[in-house]
Amino acid sequence: MNLDLNILLTQVSQTAKEIGSYLKNEQANLKQSAIEMKGLRDYVSYVDKEAEKQLVVKLKDYVSDAGFLTEEDTVEYEKKEYTWIIDPLDGTSNYVHDLAPYAMSIALMHKEEVILGVVYDPLADEMYTAIKNEKPRLNNNIISVTDKDEILNSFIGFGIPYDVTTEARNILSNTFKHFGNASFRLKGSAAIELCYVASGRYDAYFHSDLSAWDVAAGAFILQQAGGKVTDFRCGSNYIFGKELVATNSKLHNAIMKNIINLR
Ligand code: IPD
Ligand code: CA
Ligand code: CA
Repeated sequence: MNLDLNILLTQVSQTAKEIGSYLKNEQANLKQSAIEMKGLRDYVSYVDKEAEKQLVVKLKDYVSDAGFLTEEDTVEYEKKEYTWIIDPLDGTSNYVHDLAPYAMSIALMHKEEVILGVVYDPLADEMYTAIKNEKPRLNNNIISVTDKDEILNSFIGFGIPYDVTTEARNILSNTFKHFGNASFRLKGSAAIELCYVASGRYDAYFHSDLSAWDVAAGAFILQQAGGKVTDFRCGSNYIFGKELVATNSKLHNAIMKNIINLR
């Protein structure tokens, strides 16, 4: 099956915008009683689930017989030639506390390769998009990474895993030890923060204990923007490997030298 990625990107972006409006509207009326805990610090509500259902219905229409890997399990995961990897609401902790940012993250994989990525932030009305072999865009304007090449005064995002294991604790405390002369931001949405590296807002981002739906679209958008993404061992298992280091590329080696000392 051959897909026209340009047409598909238009369809997916339109859908992200529509369901993004749903997220935003529901947030305004979200009741405490609608919020459930999936685990320690890990929130979910009917909004995540309903947004995912709506998304799956639309995406099924666009690519017949594609598989799905979704956070809220609307469809059972089945490996197919094409697979959608989606997080209907990334940044749920922000969402339930009425904070920005939060986003919808949609990636399409062909066999083992991501070929389309969309991350939509409905509060900022920012749509990050990329397709294979083309430069990525933010609201239709081409974006690219920074050219910062040293850690001194670099602007680095990171995240705290829900499950704060000893390893995660070490990573957090050692971060300040090893990256002491950088500035840090922690915004609570991996999908968006990867796009911040892609669009030159951050110089780098790293996080352990993530899932494929958090990173598949954002990592692809970043790579198309000239950035580099690896796992914590500098390998390529960053979508399913639960940890990633994402940089403007020029900073990658310097960041990696410190990352290996974080555990
Ligand atoms: C989370 C966000 C957050 C990251 C967590 C993720 P969710 O996704 O990306 O930034 O720190 O590890 O699970 O739960 O809001 O979809
Ligand atoms: Ca997520
Ligand atoms: Ca989510």
